[in-house]
Amino acid sequence: MRFFPPLNPPLPAWPDARVWVIGASQGIGAATATALLAAGARVALSARSADKLHVVAADHRATARIEPLDFTQGAQVSAAWKRIHADWGGCDLVLVVAGTHREVRAWELDEAVADALLETNLNGPLATVAAVLPGLLAQGHGAIGIVSSVAGYRGLPKALVYGASKAALINFTETLYLDLHPKGIGVYLINPGFVATPLTATNEFRMPHLISADEAAAQIIAGLRAGDFEIHFPRAFTRQLKLLQLLPYRLYFAAVRRATGP
Ligand SMILES: NC(=O)c1ccc[n+]([C@@H]2O[C@H](COP(=O)([O-])OP(=O)(O)OC[C@H]3O[C@@H](n4cnc5c(N)ncnc54)[C@H](OP(=O)(O)O)[C@@H]3O)[C@@H](O)[C@H]2O)c1
Repeated sequence: MRFFPPLNPPLPAWPDARVWVIGASQGIGAATATALLAAGARVALSARSADKLHVVAADHRATARIEPLDFTQGAQVSAAWKRIHADWGGCDLVLVVAGTHREVRAWELDEAVADALLETNLNGPLATVAAVLPGLLAQGHGAIGIVSSVAGYRGLPKALVYGASKAALINFTETLYLDLHPKGIGVYLINPGFVATPLTATNEFRMPHLISADEAAAQIIAGLRAGDFEIHFPRAFTRQLKLLQLLPYRLYFAAVRRATGP
């Protein structure tokens, strides 16, 4: 039962919805695009790997379109956005899922590695929002969903740069909401816990509350439908992390050390 109204304006029913998923070639983005296509939405699929995008689109030739691009290249995003917007006569939701991950501990910090992570996880989403926002504002409706991570809540071992990129993205998305809500544009912040995808396949530590990409997609779609600002999952895990967020540093550092080791 809801006690408060949704923070975002309602999205059209999926069969009437036009959605652009960036990062749709594998993992969470591919699963979300597949679920949206199955629900009847028109979906534009973007990532760098055109071959994989064709596989995701294969069963939905009439409603899926392929727009291969590198989302860190603003000109590529703008060109694809113009085509999508013109062909569809508008767009209801831009989902920025693309991202990358690499474990970095303090003693491994390297400028080139840090630049690459920030380029994909921060500059990519920013370039995408910059490219689509004029069109969304001109049409006067629509929404942007940005996938960050619970790793952005507070500092965690092995996430020296990844966590910083995701923390910045959370702050960016919160601010985007403050600016765009009064203009009728929806903004969704999507913070997954551990999801089994190619991105996490090489993690050697035990990933608590690991869920499948299909479960993540179902959570994202339910959150979008509910108009939530923050869509975080799985709740059994994120509830614990949200409690940790409230702790003073002395207690927070001790709790993280106990959970993760040195
Ligand atoms: N898996 C998890 O446990 C987890 C947890 C929290 C948050 N997340 C976040 O969820 C998002 C998706 O993660 P995932 O696990 O599904 O990762 P994934 O399986 O590695 O998929 C990443 C997607 O991003 C695309 N991509 C990467 N760089 C790109 C670029 N420069 N331009 C366009 N597309 C690009 C990839 O396609 P191409 O390589 O074909 O370009 C791929 O489609 C990421 O932002 C990640 O940080 C994941």
